[in-house]
Amino acid sequence: MEKLYQCVYLIAIFVAAVLVASTAESFTDPNDLIALQDLYKTLNQPPQLTGWRLDGGDPCLEWIGVSCIYNGVVYLNLRGLNLTGYISPKIRYLYNLQLFDISSNTIGGEIPHVLPPNATDINMAYNYLSHNIPPSLHGMKSLRHLNLSHNLLSGPIGNVFTGLQNLREMDLSYNNFTGDLPSSFESLTNLTGLYLQNNRFTGSVSYLAELPLIDLNIECNYFSGIIPRHFQSIPNLWIGGNSLHLPGHNHPPHSGKAGKCH
Ligand SMILES: *[C@@H]1O[C@H](CO)[C@@H](O)[C@H](O)[C@H]1NC(C)=O
Ligand SMILES: *[C@@H]1O[C@H](CO)[C@@H](O)[C@H](O)[C@H]1NC(C)=O
Ligand SMILES: *[C@@H]1O[C@H](CO)[C@@H](O)[C@H](O)[C@H]1NC(C)=O
Ligand SMILES: *[C@@H]1O[C@H](CO)[C@@H](O)[C@H](O)[C@H]1NC(C)=O
Ligand SMILES: *[C@@H]1O[C@H](CO)[C@@H](O)[C@H](O)[C@H]1NC(C)=O
Repeated sequence: MEKLYQCVYLIAIFVAAVLVASTAESFTDPNDLIALQDLYKTLNQPPQLTGWRLDGGDPCLEWIGVSCIYNGVVYLNLRGLNLTGYISPKIRYLYNLQLFDISSNTIGGEIPHVLPPNATDINMAYNYLSHNIPPSLHGMKSLRHLNLSHNLLSGPIGNVFTGLQNLREMDLSYNNFTGDLPSSFESLTNLTGLYLQNNRFTGSVSYLAELPLIDLNIECNYFSGIIPRHFQSIPNLWIGGNSLHLPGHNHPPHSGKAGKCH
């Protein structure tokens, strides 16, 4: 009998301890919480991020723009919230994250060197991001959509597109990229939409010739050389405003930048 009382007593203590622990700690995955708190800090703790805070809090339950599956942060949708500051490098610890959308804000600084490793959709369009695409992009096997359009990204793109077998759509338009396309474009075997318009890319487009593209826009760059025959089978093709020419012709159909290019 005494044994039974002892047992009940121990169970009561255990239940009480669990209750205390669950009210003191948040439900959200601790790695996700730390990453989001740091992001809140680097975005200058704006009031429009309602519910967000630096001391504890529970992103899955009370932070705007955050959606979870069980206790993992899966969607982070911060589109068009007038956000400033820069993106915390700690977003690399958002292991559960699938969708990251910070488009249409005024966020500056660089793209963090390591992105959330399991992300499928990344949209950072319409911001003031500068520098280049991080080399660690090449490890992102799950990535399906990447949109970096309308930023201040510049310089030659490194050979960063290897191992992105699932990439379907990539938009790098309206930046200040220069140089030739890297050979790793050739390895984007699932790419159906590519938007490179309004940059300062140079050289040949031959690395795009064998891709399963349905939409290709390379307008308003400094591409030169031959238009690959395979481009004939791309249903939606925009190539004006370059110095490209058809095989067997020496002169480009339109020399230099077309009227609509600025
Ligand atoms: C963003 O700022 C503009 C201009 O200050 C304002 O009109 C708009 O309501 C703001 N949007 C949000 C989501 O705060
Ligand atoms: C996400 O990425 C991490 C680190 O790369 C890995 O260990 C983990 O298994 C991945 N999780 C999921 C759900 O894919
Ligand atoms: C990239 O994002 C911007 C802003 O949301 C959008 O206007 C544009 O259509 C997107 N690009 C693609 C290819 O979906
Ligand atoms: C490409 O997409 C198909 C489905 O459209 C998918 O089955 C395949 O795993 C993807 N990856 C590669 C490397 O082809
Ligand atoms: C693009 O780069 C050129 C030279 O590299 C520079 O003169 C120009 O200001 C840049 N444009 C933007 C929008 O950053």
